[in-house]
Amino acid sequence: AWSVHPRFKDWRYRSSQRLVLNYIVPCMNSYGMSIVDNFLGSKIGDRILQEVLQLHLTGRMQDGKLASRRLGNTKSIRGDQIVWVDGKEPGCENIGYLLSKMDKLVTYADGRLGEHKIRGRHNKAMVACYPGNGAGYVKHVDNPNCDGRCITCIYYLNKNWDAKEHGGVLRIFPEGKPYVADIKPLFDRLVFFWSDRRNPHEVQPSYATRYAITVWYFDSEERAEAKRRYLTATTQQKGSSSS
Ligand code: OGA
Ligand code: OGA
Ligand code: MN
Repeated sequence: AWSVHPRFKDWRYRSSQRLVLNYIVPCMNSYGMSIVDNFLGSKIGDRILQEVLQLHLTGRMQDGKLASRRLGNTKSIRGDQIVWVDGKEPGCENIGYLLSKMDKLVTYADGRLGEHKIRGRHNKAMVACYPGNGAGYVKHVDNPNCDGRCITCIYYLNKNWDAKEHGGVLRIFPEGKPYVADIKPLFDRLVFFWSDRRNPHEVQPSYATRYAITVWYFDSEERAEAKRRYLTATTQQKGSSSS
């Protein structure tokens, strides 16, 4: 099995810039993914967890949806509940802080990630909960059709997670590679991976409540092209419906 052993609080990385240049960028370019442990520390991690628990316990989360409804029963494909937040809502200040820290890392990495120019992201983060009833998310690609998303960034919030008992492992099947990467959804762990067909992945059935916050960053050219395609398609639709 393949695994990496990053330790953010290590003496090796005294600044987030060094973490990016010495660790995240080389990992992305070699493996298409990168794992950072102890990203914000337990104090801030706890505050984020409290905000996510509030979102869940106050009933703000709804069943996750699929981009395509043709696929049939959604629940058998993805069994999470989600809510989108931009981090400026009352009670989401620490999530907002997390997003600003993610943005900082991606800004430092920009220009060093293959040919990608990373510009902007979904303005909202997806806060997700797998309720622990055995639901997961079957193998999929986040961005199979060039919608502009380039990097998936996930922050996990689960203390005392025992994958043998609780499952919930993120398994990545890097395209053309002879290995898989099994990533446990551990508290205060940050994960990056390419969002496109290079990284099919699944969330294995989860038998305890599993929280994560996901943000997608855009490749500027692919995003612009996707927007042009979308505009052309909607313009043509309007043209044909009025004729
Ligand atoms: C997703 C997804 C992975 C995880 O929501 O698209 O793959 O570990 N989540 O939560
Ligand atoms: C580690 C490690 C893989 C995982 O960094 O300690 O084992 O999912 N990574 O825990
Ligand atoms: Mn995914």
